[in-house]
Amino acid sequence: MERVDGIDVTACERCSDLCESRSQIVNGTGVEDASLLFIGEAPGAREDEQGEPFVGRSGDVLSTTLRDCGLVRSDVRIANCVRCRPPENRDPTTAELTNCREHLEREIESVDPDFIVTLGKVPSQHLLERDVAVTKEAGSVVEHRITGTPRRIVICLHPAATLYDRSQKETFEQTISEAVSLAGAGAESGQSRLSEY
Ligand code: URA
Repeated sequence: MERVDGIDVTACERCSDLCESRSQIVNGTGVEDASLLFIGEAPGAREDEQGEPFVGRSGDVLSTTLRDCGLVRSDVRIANCVRCRPPENRDPTTAELTNCREHLEREIESVDPDFIVTLGKVPSQHLLERDVAVTKEAGSVVEHRITGTPRRIVICLHPAATLYDRSQKETFEQTISEAVSLAGAGAESGQSRLSEY
């Protein structure tokens, strides 16, 4: 049984493990025609509880960084590659990413953002369909077709990386700040690879 309501998935049973581990489907949040679409990996415990992406510790990092750029969460769109919490917070499997891909593609097409910001390795590799060394490539803007439409993808560290390694904080904040600036959301941008766009 599967039900979709606009961008939201209200019922889905494509992944048997995730049907067991989730308490609810966690759909994207924020404005539906956002110029910036942030995409993470999968909901964690807090997201599963609250039914909203990035509301745990990683979400605090993301929200604070957006606020420093003059934005609130509802100004942008925030979603995940996979909408259901994997058991014990493991990475989503390739099959789960594939199962949820149609939902993600529908979201991307509907929001039609100017820039997609991939938060971490899993979404970066999933959307770019190649290996990504996120630490090395963070801050790069890559054009890639998704369902036939060229999309500009900003590769970014996962916000949790800044909690494990404080030295990553500056790269994370700078990538977000420049993506916000590029998308015309008002932050000042400095000289960087992003400013080529
Ligand atoms: N990490 C993610 O990738 N997504 C969330 O929603 C929360 C943490």
